[in-house]
Amino acid sequence: MRRRFIAAVVCLLALAATVFTFRASWLASFAAEQKPTRGAADDASIRRGAELAALGDCATCHTAPGGAPFAGGRAFATPFGTLYSTNITPDAQTGIGRWSLDQFGRAMREGVAPDGHLLYPAFPYPHFTHMTDANIASVYRFVMSRQALHAVAPKNHLAFPFEFRPLLAGWNRLFAHRAAEPSLVPADALARRGKYLVDSVGHCAACHTPLNVLGAEKSGYAFEGGVIEGWEAPALTTLLRRPKPWTVDQLEAYLRTGVASEHGAAAGPMRPVTDSLGAASADDISAMVAYLMTLQAGQSSALSRTQSTGSALSSSSTDRARLERGATLFEGACASCHGAAAPMSTLGDRPSLSLGTAVNSQTPRNAIRVILDGIPGGNGTRGPFMPAFAKMLDDAQIADVAVYMRSRFSVEAPWTLDRADVAKLRKETVNP
Ligand code: HEC
Ligand code: HEC
Ligand code: HEC
Repeated sequence: MRRRFIAAVVCLLALAATVFTFRASWLASFAAEQKPTRGAADDASIRRGAELAALGDCATCHTAPGGAPFAGGRAFATPFGTLYSTNITPDAQTGIGRWSLDQFGRAMREGVAPDGHLLYPAFPYPHFTHMTDANIASVYRFVMSRQALHAVAPKNHLAFPFEFRPLLAGWNRLFAHRAAEPSLVPADALARRGKYLVDSVGHCAACHTPLNVLGAEKSGYAFEGGVIEGWEAPALTTLLRRPKPWTVDQLEAYLRTGVASEHGAAAGPMRPVTDSLGAASADDISAMVAYLMTLQAGQSSALSRTQSTGSALSSSSTDRARLERGATLFEGACASCHGAAAPMSTLGDRPSLSLGTAVNSQTPRNAIRVILDGIPGGNGTRGPFMPAFAKMLDDAQIADVAVYMRSRFSVEAPWTLDRADVAKLRKETVNP
């Protein structure tokens, strides 16, 4: 009786074993057969990851000038010193090839590397922390699907005590989870999705919100305008108060291509953002624009401009001499492209300087920056080109031409500006 029982058990076990072996090999062959289908799901996730990486500017920050995409080594000038982005290709030695999805998620969410060291918030994890698990997984798959490249980032040069990473724990406790203001959630579903994208992977506030002394976004000032790499990132809450109020179509075109009718082209640090957004999904762009529109106070340009003091030419003779010097420089160096009779025919139908944000802003910062840096063309970048005048004009000449340009193209109050201001701005750049 007992022996029969044991035999039966052995028999059952044997049967089970064969079934399991069969299942295993059947599953294996099934898996082999099914590979194209599973691959298609992976491909869709990788494609989504590529779109999200475009929204997150990963390649912009993780590529050194002239370097291989995602291999790191780009310098970041911060008030605390120079920091370099790292290699995020799947190279096992120098990149993130050995990182699991969980480890990647922890870096994106908490700013902690697998060996436990804390990452600097120049890496916008205080925004990426708001990404969904599915979106982080897609970006991971996309990054891991790319070619592994061997590249070691240069050593950071940070001032004491900022090179001491454990200090970041305090920073994280104070600021890391704050970067998603204002907390008003739009009622409209498209705008709600846009808010998610803007606050998380898009990290628009990283530039468009003023920073406090510790380099964190100032609480209560979301999208009210910031300064980045010497440029003004204008307020995104006053888009209807420009000389021509932005429309939905214009904002979509601007974000996707860097140019829009009736508005200046994207320059400075916004240019790589729009270059990158060119590879984002059109639906995501529309969602972000729907959200931006909910941030507008609804004031039209006419309202704010009634307060403008105008810029009647000053009667003081030094001012007049200055405007004449500026006018001469403008005719010589700028009018071929920006003069009334220069339609910039080779550059497409671009709007007059009088419509641009730079010439109408309260601060001359971007007007001076664009004169110094120009707008880079070529190298596969799209959009208009303007030469850099940093080496062609001195500080006093740039101040004169900027003051003249303001008086000619804007009805806003004149800028008070001299050579020392230009000298100061020259130094506020990532490319000294
Ligand atoms: C504004 C610039 C910027 C953007 C945008 C950016 N990063 Fe980074 N990232 C950095 C910097 C700088 C570091 C290095 C931080 C440090 O060393 O403490 C970094 C570090 C990382 C790390 C840690 C790597 C390591 O070896 O420790 C990962 C992972 C990473 N970034 C992924 C991404 C992904 C994915 C995106 C896009 C969704 C992205 N980053 C967008 C600047 C950026
Ligand atoms: C790396 C910093 C940076 C990031 C990130 C960034 N911007 Fe900008 N943005 C700027 C700067 C600088 C300007 C001014 C560019 C100029 O004058 O040509 C600007 C200009 C703009 C303008 C034009 C404003 C005007 O009236 O002229 C819009 C709209 C805009 N950004 C939207 C966005 C959105 C939406 C995002 C997120 C997807 C974003 N930006 C992310 C730096 C940034
Ligand atoms: C080769 C042609 C060219 C020359 C020369 C040139 N620019 Fe430009 N500039 C451009 C283009 C193109 C743009 C982008 C126009 C656009 O699409 O908004 C631009 C943009 C600007 C802007 C930003 C407008 C805004 O608000 O977005 C300012 C300010 C400016 N130029 C000033 C000057 C000054 C001052 C000079 C002379 C010292 C000068 N430019 C010379 C082609 C030129």
